[in-house]
Amino acid sequence: MELVYNVVVATHLLGMAAVVGGYVAGQPKVSELMVWGARAQLITGLILVGMAESIDSLDKDLNMVKVGTKLVISILVAAFAEMGRADAKRGKDIPWMTHAAGGLAIVNVLVAVLWT
Ligand code: HEM
Repeated sequence: MELVYNVVVATHLLGMAAVVGGYVAGQPKVSELMVWGARAQLITGLILVGMAESIDSLDKDLNMVKVGTKLVISILVAAFAEMGRADAKRGKDIPWMTHAAGGLAIVNVLVAVLWT
């Protein structure tokens, strides 16, 4: 089961690369890659928490305040990315929305790594 968990962690890191990379390469527009990365982060993050909490052999003890903070930030990232992408498709660019989504995704990387 540890292998499955680690594969989800790897997918989580690829999602992070997509949302941050999609932001840097596509700004001031929200790219399709950024939206899919934001969706992937929410889904893979929730799977990780579900597995860590329910599978004893993984021996994970998550900090739920940290996880809750990441969840709230991640919902904002996905919301801004979805709205920004929908506007971009209609030819209307709202750069602050792109920067809010990308900036908050970077904040979540810092929360993930620096909050010990
Ligand atoms: C934009 C959104 C997100 C980004 C950029 C992000 C980034 C990261 C990064 C870089 C790591 C690796 C940290 C390390 O191993 O030191 C990580 C791990 C993790 N993330 Fe996220 N994350 C996001 C969203 C979420 C969400 C929404 C959840 C759950 C609600 C979540 C749950 C977790 C968990 C449980 C781990 C620990 C994996 C482990 O080492 O066992 N993440 N995240």
